[in-house]
Amino acid sequence: MEVIVRKTSEEVSQLTAQMVCVQLQQKPQSVLGMATGESPKRTYEILVEKCKAKQISFSKATCFSLDEYVGLDSSHPQSYRYYMNKNLYSHIDIEMQNTFVPDGLAKNLQQAAKEYEEKIVQSGGIDLQILGIGRNGHIGFNEPTSSLASRTRIKTLTESTFKDNARFFAPSEFQPHLALTMGIETIMEAKMIVLIASGEAKADAIKAMVEGPITAICPASILQYHPKTKVIIDEAAASKLQLKSYYQWVRSQQEKLFS
Ligand code: F6R
Repeated sequence: MEVIVRKTSEEVSQLTAQMVCVQLQQKPQSVLGMATGESPKRTYEILVEKCKAKQISFSKATCFSLDEYVGLDSSHPQSYRYYMNKNLYSHIDIEMQNTFVPDGLAKNLQQAAKEYEEKIVQSGGIDLQILGIGRNGHIGFNEPTSSLASRTRIKTLTESTFKDNARFFAPSEFQPHLALTMGIETIMEAKMIVLIASGEAKADAIKAMVEGPITAICPASILQYHPKTKVIIDEAAASKLQLKSYYQWVRSQQEKLFS
């Protein structure tokens, strides 16, 4: 796990976008794993700017979203398909048929989950997975005590996640308790993972993920086992890390080496 601490959330987004750009420049037909939520929004905005400036192209890329609510169709503003179209896909040169989001409206959700896994395999597997982290340590919608060997499946959201996401729904609006999410093992199969977080509200989750034990109570802690994970966080999200200055020192040495 490589921990990269940046002063601001803007710098977190810039560095993450840069990593996606390098990935696409090195392998135009990359398969990317996409997160939704607040954390990657600015990164997507930067990617849109770079694509419009013709510095990168998604024309040969394939994207798989981490998760989708059960019961929301793609025209619902809170659905993750809507989010991806609005924040990224509608503004870049990707072929829409190469963008995938779990089908939260499928009659047979288990079958849809199985097919999603198959599509990822058929596409050659995920080269670069972008992740956010929940305050409770979830990745995707793999909530605490999710099996660390789980595959794409239906998950019930915890009360804390439900409450965290309630801000996006109108008070009278239906807010799903269920989601289809890539499993933890599915995520772990990505060749490279970039997890991003900003703000003090994420500091406990980041501490548990980076420096705590590997445990299903903090699903993100399994990333300690992943050989190529970068954790890109701002000062506030890094504020509870015991070895924060060590991570900063390591990074500064690397930047000196490669500058
Ligand atoms: C979103 C997802 C979630 C979020 C996490 C953080 O597709 O899978 O794990 O990444 O809940 O959400 P934000 O970024 O809104 O704080």
